[in-house]
Amino acid sequence: MKTFLLRSMLKWTALVICSLWALQGQADLNQQYQILDDIQKNPEQLKDAAIKGKDRAGLCGRCHGEDGNSKRDFIPNLADQNAKYLVNQFEQFANGSRKNYVMSQLASTLTLEDRVNLAIYFSSQQAKPFVARKPKVIIQNEIELGRADFQDKCQMCHGEHAEGWAQLPRLASQPSEYLAKTLKKFKTGHRDRSKTPMTAIAKQLSDDQIKNISVYLSTLE
Ligand code: HEC
Ligand code: HEC
Repeated sequence: MKTFLLRSMLKWTALVICSLWALQGQADLNQQYQILDDIQKNPEQLKDAAIKGKDRAGLCGRCHGEDGNSKRDFIPNLADQNAKYLVNQFEQFANGSRKNYVMSQLASTLTLEDRVNLAIYFSSQQAKPFVARKPKVIIQNEIELGRADFQDKCQMCHGEHAEGWAQLPRLASQPSEYLAKTLKKFKTGHRDRSKTPMTAIAKQLSDDQIKNISVYLSTLE
C-alpha cells in the first residue's frame, strides 16, 4: 500500500514538473507545435511535409543515418522520435539552451518550415535497435538491472516501452553510449544540457545505474 501511494505521488510530481517545464517562455514553441498539429491532421499535407523533410535531410543522414538510424554510438537516432520533441530540440539548439558544436550552428540555419518537415520525416521512420546492427557482448545481468531501474524511476514519464510522448523523448533503441553520455551530462549539470527536469533525476543515479539503464534501453525495439 505504501509503495502504491509513493508511486502515485511520484507520478503526480513528475507530471507537475513536466508541465511547469513545458510552460517556461514557450509562446514561440507553442506556435510551432500548433503548425505541426495542423499538418498532422491533414493526410495530404502530412505526405507533402515528409517528402520535403526527406529532401532536406541529406546532410543529416551523414551522421544520423538516412532513415534516422544513427551510424555511430555517440550520435542519437532520430527515427521514430516524437515530432514535438524534435521541434523542441531544434528550438533549444537555436536559442542556446542546448549546446553542440555542429547542431547549434545547423539549427540556426533551419527555417520554421524545415524544422517541421524534418520532424515529420524522421518521426515517420522505423527505429532499429543499435545493438542489433552492431553486435556487442551484452551482459544479461546489466539488462535486467537496467530494466528494473527504468520501471521504477523513468517509465512514469518516458512510457512503458520507453516510447515517450509529445515533448518527452523516445529512448527505446538509442545507442547506449549516447544515452550514458547524456545522462552523465544531466547528472553533472553540464552546460550543454543544463535547463531540463532531467538534472534532478539523473543526480540520483550511480554510474553503474546509468550504464545498466543505457544498455537496457539500447536493446528495446
Ligand atoms: C556532423 C554530424 C551531424 C550532422 C551532419 C547532423 N547532426 Fe544532429 N546531432 C549530432 C550529434 C553528435 C548530436 C548529439 C549532440 C549531443 O550530444 O547533445 C546530434 C543531435 C541531434 C538532435 C537531438 C536528438 C535527441 O535525441 O535529443 C536532433 C533533433 C538532430 N541532431 C537533428 C539533426 C538534423 C535534422 C540534421 C540535418 C539538418 C542533423 N542533426 C545533422 C551530429 C550531427
Ligand atoms: C519528470 C519526468 C521525467 C522522468 C521521471 C524522467 N525523465 Fe528523462 N526526460 C524528461 C524530459 C522532459 C526530457 C527532455 C529534456 C530536454 O528537452 O532537455 C527528458 C530527456 C531524457 C533524455 C535525453 C534523450 C535524448 O534523446 O537526448 C534521456 C537519456 C532521459 N531523459 C533518460 C531518463 C532516464 C534514464 C530516467 C529514469 C532514471 C528518466 N529520463 C526519467 C522527463 C523525465
